[in-house]
Amino acid sequence: MKKDTSDFSYHTSVLLHESIDGLRIKPDGIYVDATFGGGGHSREILKQLNESGRLIGFDQDEDAKRNAPDDERFTLVQANFSELKRFLRLHDANLVDGILADLGVSSWQFDTAERGFSFRFEGPLDMRMNRGAEKTAADVLNEYSAEELQKMLSEYGEVRNSKTLAVAIVDGRAQKEYETIADFLSVCEANRIGERHKYLAQVFQAVRMEVNEELGVLREFLLQSGKVLKSGGRLAVITFHSLEDRLVKNFMKNGGFEDEPEKDFFGNFEKRFKLITKKPMEASDKEQKENSRSRSAKLRVAEKI
Ligand SMILES: C[S@@+](CC[C@H](N)C(=O)[O-])C[C@H]1O[C@@H](n2cnc3c(N)ncnc32)[C@H](O)[C@@H]1O
Repeated sequence: MKKDTSDFSYHTSVLLHESIDGLRIKPDGIYVDATFGGGGHSREILKQLNESGRLIGFDQDEDAKRNAPDDERFTLVQANFSELKRFLRLHDANLVDGILADLGVSSWQFDTAERGFSFRFEGPLDMRMNRGAEKTAADVLNEYSAEELQKMLSEYGEVRNSKTLAVAIVDGRAQKEYETIADFLSVCEANRIGERHKYLAQVFQAVRMEVNEELGVLREFLLQSGKVLKSGGRLAVITFHSLEDRLVKNFMKNGGFEDEPEKDFFGNFEKRFKLITKKPMEASDKEQKENSRSRSAKLRVAEKI
C-alpha cells in the first residue's frame, strides 16, 4: 500500500519533528499539509496515521505531483491553499483535525533556473509557484508604477533604497522591457547598496512575494483554517518572513491580523485559539548548520478552542 517516493534532493524539510509533534496527531484523524512540496512533512504525518486516517496535501505547483506518495490515505490537490475550504468540501473533509503550512518556495523551485526565482541562475523573469497563474515577475517589473514598485520593495524586501531602485526600474524599461534575470540584475547591480547577496536576496524576495500574492493568500488561508478545524484541532505554521510571522501570530492570538484582538459589535472578544507555542520555535543549532534555509524559520502552533 505504501510506496516511499522520498526525494530529498527536491527539498529538505524544515523543523520537521517540531511541527509534526506540534500537530499532536490522532492516528485516525484527517490532516491537511497545505504546502506539500517535496512531501517530507506529509510522509511524517502518514507514518503516524492508522488505516482510517487521511491526509490531504495542497500544492499550487504541478511539479510537486512527482513526490506524491502512493498511499490510499493520501490525496494531493493542485490548488492554492487560499481555496482550502472549497477543496476540502470537494474531498468530503468539511472539518479536519490538524493543518500544517510550511510557507514559501521549495529548494526545487528555487534551484531550477527556468523558474526564475534565483539571482544565481540565468533564466526568464517568472517566479510563479503556479505556472498557470497570469502574473509573472516580468509583468510586475514592466507594468507597475514607480510608487507601486517602491512599496513592494520596501514592505516585502525592506530594501533600504527602494525609491532609487523603483525609479531606476521604470527608467530601465523605457529602453528595453525586462525579460530575463540578467536584464533585471543589471539594474539591481547598478543601484545596489551594501552587501551583494543580501541586497539581491531582499529585492528578489520582494518581487516573488508580489508575484505570488503571498501575504494575501496567507490571510485567506488562516481565516479558512479557523473555520475548517475541529475544536481541539491544531494549526502549525512555519514562516520565513517577519510580515508572515506577524500575521500568523496576530491571527492565533487575536483572531484577526491586527495587533489588537478583533472585537464584536458589543466590544467582546471571543478567543478562538489556545496558543501552544507562546514564542515561536526556531531550528536547533544543528539544523541551522545543516540547512541554511532553516535559519529564518519560525514555527507557531495553536489549538482551536
Ligand atoms: C517550503 S515548500 C514545502 C516543503 C514541504 N513541507 C516538504 O517537507 O517538502 C512550500 C511548497 O508550498 C507550495 N506553496 C506555497 N504557497 C502556496 C499556496 N499559497 N498554495 C499552495 N501551495 C503553495 C510551494 O509551491 C512549495 O512547493
